[in-house]
Amino acid sequence: MNTKYEPLFTPWKVGNVEIKNRIVMLPMEGTNMIQWEAKTGYVKGIEEFYRDRKDNNVGLFIPGLIPLITIIGEKWIYKHPEMFEPVKPVIEEIHQSGAKIFFQLSAGAGRSMILPSLLKPFIKKGFLKTVSSKLLMSKWWWSAPDPDEPSVWDPDVKMDLFTSEMISQFVYAFGQTAKLCKEAGVDGVEIHAVHEGYLLDQFAMPYTNHRDDAYGGSLENRLRFACEIVKEIKKVCGDDYPVSLRYSVCSMTRGFNAGAVPGETFDEVGRSMAESEKAIKILEDAGYDLFNCDNGTYDAWYWAHPPVYAPLNMNLSYVEHIKQFTSKPVVCAGRMQPDAAAESIKAGRIDAMGVGRQLLCDPEYVTKIKEDRLEEIRPCIACHGACLPFNGMNGKGTDIDPMHVEMGRCVLNPWTNNETKYSKEPAKQPKRIAVVGGGIAGMEAAIQASLRGHTVTLYEKTDKLGGVFNAAAAMSFKEKDKALLTWYQKQLEKSGAEVRMQTEVSDLGSLDADVVIVAIGAHARTLNIPGAELAVTATDFLNGNAPVGDKVAIIGGGLTGCEIAYELALQGKHPYIVEMTEFLVGARGICMANSTMLRELLRFHKVPAYLNATAESITEDSLVIKTPDGKQTIPTDSVILSVGYTPDKHFEPTEKPKKQAPGTPQLYFIGDCDEVGSLKTVVKQAYETVQKISYA
Ligand SMILES: Cc1cc2nc3c(=O)[nH]c(=O)nc-3n(C[C@H](O)[C@H](O)[C@H](O)COP(=O)(O)O)c2cc1C
Repeated sequence: MNTKYEPLFTPWKVGNVEIKNRIVMLPMEGTNMIQWEAKTGYVKGIEEFYRDRKDNNVGLFIPGLIPLITIIGEKWIYKHPEMFEPVKPVIEEIHQSGAKIFFQLSAGAGRSMILPSLLKPFIKKGFLKTVSSKLLMSKWWWSAPDPDEPSVWDPDVKMDLFTSEMISQFVYAFGQTAKLCKEAGVDGVEIHAVHEGYLLDQFAMPYTNHRDDAYGGSLENRLRFACEIVKEIKKVCGDDYPVSLRYSVCSMTRGFNAGAVPGETFDEVGRSMAESEKAIKILEDAGYDLFNCDNGTYDAWYWAHPPVYAPLNMNLSYVEHIKQFTSKPVVCAGRMQPDAAAESIKAGRIDAMGVGRQLLCDPEYVTKIKEDRLEEIRPCIACHGACLPFNGMNGKGTDIDPMHVEMGRCVLNPWTNNETKYSKEPAKQPKRIAVVGGGIAGMEAAIQASLRGHTVTLYEKTDKLGGVFNAAAAMSFKEKDKALLTWYQKQLEKSGAEVRMQTEVSDLGSLDADVVIVAIGAHARTLNIPGAELAVTATDFLNGNAPVGDKVAIIGGGLTGCEIAYELALQGKHPYIVEMTEFLVGARGICMANSTMLRELLRFHKVPAYLNATAESITEDSLVIKTPDGKQTIPTDSVILSVGYTPDKHFEPTEKPKKQAPGTPQLYFIGDCDEVGSLKTVVKQAYETVQKISYA
């Protein structure tokens, strides 16, 4: 092991429980061990998920949260001890590996709960509201400390009051549920959460709590609920049963649906550092043994769920600061990197490194650090594309399709949380496979096919692998995307696939193969308006082929357009955005943490955006746009078009044959040449195509 990482592999203690190293797998929905929806408590595939990670040197596991009461039907988990039975063998296996496990118990979400905004269409006013909301969702999930505060997702959704009687029932339930955890062999519990703007945090913060009872007003009162919980657990489970608290050091919040960005001076409406210094002492005195820390609220969600725009180790200095105000250990979360964590642990500034998404992306992450194989780590690019893929429109609703919610999966590693769906066995019948196109889809298909035992040749017409992802990774803040390209190239080399660079395939029939996978990507779209030839495409700009001036119009306020605007602002230029819809970064499936951080960064850098606006014409020094207020001519040096892509269909037969002609190879079109999508769709399709070829 590189001596630099040694501090990560030293033991530490939470209460009396010794943990073998300083790496904590953070709680994530999708890694839950107990789920009501699973009826018996058994979550399909959970053994496989934990087996992949427990044998790979995680020190402490904290699976995704367990609600104390069901969302529908008001069933208390502590009244159903049978829910713990199926997970006992998994806990046992984890213990045999030398790791420890804490269960995270949740008080719920209050105004941060997304479901009421999704159910709104079904819920009528008055009496009907009471009846239908009871049928659809229990009051526990519909209540907040202060019902006048707007829902994070939709101001039209009104919450009910979380009464002091409900608090007492919850405190009791926490004690009883922790007791079941202890009896099941779980090493400790974590309380969710004076963190991220969840229910307990709404009690704790001034801007979401205007109560005049014992749970509102002074800091002690606002923390009373969280303190009563730990006292009850200690009373029921004993003083030595460890209780951790998920804790946001600072809220980093300017107001409702308004977060601060790194480096910004602002008025904190939530928990300031000064208040946090006092709060952590009160919580420690109440009995908490560990603080699992970062920053943020649902109004500044990207501090708790740092996207690609968030600096690495974004929360570290805050957590290091707060450690000085408690004698208990602290964990730091949020894009933590092993070198920064090791240095901080060595200096005694934090106690452990929390790792979330990187462990979804690469289960062997810790082993690879330990064995000094860091270049083999599949880097998490903080896209949230499959682990947390739902968008929020700054309080104007959400894009969730309630029928297709998925969490805790990984764009780059389709295997994660699909362990019982896919196979890693050798192919039933190894084949000769030609892959045409060396973008992400082509590389993923070639690597997977080689791993399954096929003989693979990949043809790339340029001198560079990566396709359009080279442009996507070009921006200065995309260090992990660049690392991903390097990782793909190395894996491809390692896979044994033959790679023929600068080899254009003009006739698929000329390929000597049983299977041909076409992955030739897409072309950037242009606009049919006067002067369009004066504009450059986003890809040309990002690839460095089209320099731009100082005042730059970006037509298209989707993800790429807004990222380009941010990049130009970082370069000191003066970009502005023209977007035809009402929202920037409004596409379905982009995580709210990513979209809001990008919007807040554009606000901070004063990048103007014209919404509901269309481009009419371009000249050498101006752009004419049509807005709801009329036409405007804006002096402009350069125009970048970021208006999407069209699939390259030049290999696709105009009429698809119903059956494969004898003697011809099986043909698959994958990635953007099949249908323009995202990194998620591209990787998944490549992965599933190889599964089909191998096991069908
Ligand atoms: C899919 C997903 C689900 C999450 N669910 C929870 C949760 O149940 N409880 C919690 O305290 N944090 C939850 N988090 C936050 C993570 O624990 C972690 O703090 C966050 O991902 C930042 O760490 P990372 O950059 O290492 O991923 C979740 C994060 C993700 C990505």
